[in-house]
Amino acid sequence: MFLELRKKFLDFWKSKGSVAVKSSSLIPDDPSVLLTTAGMQQFKKYYTGELNADSDFGSNRTASIQKCFRTSDIEEVGDDTHLTFFEMLGNFSFGPVKNDSPDSIKEKGGYFKRASIVWAYEFLTDILEIAPERISVTIFKGDKEIPKDSESYAIWYSEIGIPENKIKEGSKEDNFWGPTGAEGPCGPTTEIYVDGVEVWNIVFNEFYKTPTNADDAQNDAEENGRRKSALGPRNSAYVKLKNPGIDTGMGFERLLSVIEGEKNVFESSAFKPIISKIKELAPNSSYRDVRLLADHIRASIFLISDGILPSNKEAGYILRRLLRRIIATEIKDDIHSDIFVGVYPEIKKLFENIYPEIKNEKDIVGTWLEEKEKFQGTITKGLREIQKYEKITGADAFYIYESFGLPFELIKELAPKNSVKELDYKDFESEFKKHQEISRAGVQKKFGGHGLVLDTGELKAGSSEEMQKVVRMHTATHLLHWALRSVLGESVHQMGSDINPERLRFDFNFDRKLAPEELSKIESMVNEEIKKNLPVYFEEMSKEKAVKIGALAFFKEKYPDKVKVYFIGDQDHPLSKEFCAGPHVNWTQEIGKIKILKEESVGKGIRRIKATVI
Ligand code: ALA
Repeated sequence: MFLELRKKFLDFWKSKGSVAVKSSSLIPDDPSVLLTTAGMQQFKKYYTGELNADSDFGSNRTASIQKCFRTSDIEEVGDDTHLTFFEMLGNFSFGPVKNDSPDSIKEKGGYFKRASIVWAYEFLTDILEIAPERISVTIFKGDKEIPKDSESYAIWYSEIGIPENKIKEGSKEDNFWGPTGAEGPCGPTTEIYVDGVEVWNIVFNEFYKTPTNADDAQNDAEENGRRKSALGPRNSAYVKLKNPGIDTGMGFERLLSVIEGEKNVFESSAFKPIISKIKELAPNSSYRDVRLLADHIRASIFLISDGILPSNKEAGYILRRLLRRIIATEIKDDIHSDIFVGVYPEIKKLFENIYPEIKNEKDIVGTWLEEKEKFQGTITKGLREIQKYEKITGADAFYIYESFGLPFELIKELAPKNSVKELDYKDFESEFKKHQEISRAGVQKKFGGHGLVLDTGELKAGSSEEMQKVVRMHTATHLLHWALRSVLGESVHQMGSDINPERLRFDFNFDRKLAPEELSKIESMVNEEIKKNLPVYFEEMSKEKAVKIGALAFFKEKYPDKVKVYFIGDQDHPLSKEFCAGPHVNWTQEIGKIKILKEESVGKGIRRIKATVI
């Protein structure tokens, strides 16, 4: 059924005047979301009227089988229905609705509630031959902002004949969909269930949700005249779209398991060969681990084949997390052969004719092997530590994290069985906070006595609020140092630094006054990086190694043999590497925004910048 169901779905929608459109990449053409999470994403601009489907596809009706990835369910993976990567069957309508009758199959115009419901039911009961008694539905019950969807109720009840007790009314939480990201098309939904399992979500895209900050939205709309003209009058966060649209989504693997009579997605033909290969290679793994491996290996292969590489931020971080969980499971379950390399050919066989990009074995397996090598050292050491415990508390987990770099979720994964129920992320976080407080208090106490000299200069603060501000400025100083070197050249280096709650002061070697354009470029470069929310982290290493990796040192300082190096940004290509004792923020967005106040000379060949954070 694996190939047949795809064909049946697309053929059915073609018979209703729709054009089959290929899946778009998992990397969306939409900066407000990290990954593609739904079939409608590639069509967002057709709903708003910014683009015209009839001219691009030859119809205002399309259908697709879309590669999707959702992180929201990552903790559920291993049960019967949840996956990170999955495929979504969907049909879409954009255009003006001239005829919403199910007889309008020859038309290429828009359709709406009536045709979409009647056709969905026809597909399930006539084409897939699912018995009508197995079907139940839900509709939107309405709230203060948007009225009850009585129209859908009437179609299900009077036209299709679903009995009253099988039509449930749901709230916004369950029967309203979208937008993906901060803004976009959205609307009430009607869902179709088979034997109580939700299979199909039909969204009536009647609204465009604007971001809550109305002014921003207004500016956006004005900048983009086309978008503005696509929207009706603006009177709330939900603006009526000029043309109502249809967006539907049906989880392919879930539907497949329903029609194949299997209890769960992993026993459907989308997973069967993958699961049996894993069972062969990982005889000690629990059924949950087998499923987790199947999901994560498949998902990683699709992410890498769309060009994502493991890193410490955004989509790259999601991939890293999946790969590291696979590695951790290999170690935990004593899997001797390389599970990823062993399973890849099975996944390739299933999908290569559908998604040719997954044939790129060199990149896919190469990325995996590189990440594995990187992570194995960390994990072996961490695991050795974990094995010393009978029970791990939040405080222990924090210690292991801090000393061995093992992320919380892996500690949890590898922890002794009797801790797992107790090992809570909240405990870990509060331990983390406590630790921060202690180090701040320590910093303050030291300052109270003698002033505090850090290797970047002095941090001066009188209260914990002030200290927080000073810490933000400290990280900003590293970014400023990086930006100065990028704009003025690598020969620029720090000559001195001083930070108090009002401002940061940074001295560097340079032989002329900076032009206003240079200053504004430096300022905006720093702010750009802050906005990216890069991670800030340190590693302890020998002085020799720190020099070798090119970490910047402050020449006036004498360093011990073991030093701390602070990094900002992606582990593979950090923006900034400096010898530094800290403290720093954890993520650059905590800085807020930097503003350069002044640039001046403080001696021959030495310039000074004063800046602050807001
Ligand atoms: N876009 C809708 C969903 O993902 C159909 O459920």
